Amino acid sequence: MNHSVGGVDLKQKSLLKVGVMDFITSTAILPLLCGCVGIFSLFKLLQRLRMKAYLRNAVVVITGATSGLGRECAKVFYAAGARLVLCGRNREALDELTRELAASQAAKVQTHSPYTVTFDLTDPGTIVAATAEILQCFGHVDVLINNAGVSYRGAIVDTTMDVDKRVMETNYFGPIALTKALLPSMIQRRQGHVVAISSIQGKISLPFRSAYAASKHATQAFFDCLRAEVEQCGIEVTVISPSYIHTSLSLNAVTADGSRYGVMDEKTAQGRSPVEVARDVLAAVGKRKKDVILADLLPSLAVYLRTLAPGLFFSLMASRARKERKSKTC
Ligand SMILES: NC(=O)c1ccc[n+]([C@@H]2O[C@H](COP(=O)([O-])OP(=O)(O)OC[C@H]3O[C@@H](n4cnc5c(N)ncnc54)[C@H](OP(=O)(O)O)[C@@H]3O)[C@@H](O)[C@H]2O)c1
Repeated sequence: MNHSVGGVDLKQKSLLKVGVMDFITSTAILPLLCGCVGIFSLFKLLQRLRMKAYLRNAVVVITGATSGLGRECAKVFYAAGARLVLCGRNREALDELTRELAASQAAKVQTHSPYTVTFDLTDPGTIVAATAEILQCFGHVDVLINNAGVSYRGAIVDTTMDVDKRVMETNYFGPIALTKALLPSMIQRRQGHVVAISSIQGKISLPFRSAYAASKHATQAFFDCLRAEVEQCGIEVTVISPSYIHTSLSLNAVTADGSRYGVMDEKTAQGRSPVEVARDVLAAVGKRKKDVILADLLPSLAVYLRTLAPGLFFSLMASRARKERKSKTC
């Protein structure tokens, strides 16, 4: 009896299957599906073409081009046909990068010899002079990528105010001074794009990173305000918040007394390749994204946890601080 019921069920199921397949193939569903896939592919193609056109010949200024992410950004924007102004403190490193770009064969479009401008973001006097030099290179700036930055490791109680100020000057006051100096020429042309390389620590704060997290939170806030203020002038603002990238950031970080940290942190060593992150920066700029988090699931979830369950987030951070302090004192 049961067997025959099972048989009927099977028969009914296969009839239903055939019916559904017939419906898909014989009615409007299949053409509709094909149409959707076609429209999606066309949209993607148009988006890619629009992105390429946006970056080709664009005048792109990159700060911190001597190392890590900035260096890789220089390579991908160069290969995309951008006219580059590479900024940094180290003239030799910038010249070496320029030679490397000239020797590279990666570009499928016409490339342009970059200009280089040296200045220190912690020195407001040099920023004013550098802005004039930057504007002289190609006559205007299309995209400013505020990438240069310094990290920090230390306990708040041990950290001198000089260190807090140095980190804020490099990561916040320097980039906003450069942005403000270039902004009038962008507003005049009613065209321009300002990019801030922030950090996931611009959205959540980790213990023993106070100065860095504070400078990146300030960066996020400033550029969010800027986006709203200049939208009607035709200027785009993109804030990019990556998680760990395998660069020299932790080696170059400053400590509580201002000395160089000089350690390649495990998390930084295990971070994403700067080449991949540079490609994501290129895509975010090309697609004119407003706010981008470049992080794995866990750090991305932490951002939401900070908003949705702050109590839990604070407990987790306190526990992390206890563990980190213990590992240092052991
Ligand atoms: N690596 C990560 O895990 C990570 C994660 C999230 C966000 N980020 C952000 O990514 C950006 C690039 O950092 P990175 O990882 O590529 O580190 P990096 O390899 O240490 O590069 C930092 C760059 O900033 C420049 N710089 C530092 N202080 C400067 C100053 N006072 N004036 C002018 N330039 C200065 C450095 O120039 P010199 O060569 O002259 O020192 C270097 O070119 C930073 O904004 C950082 O906060 C990094």
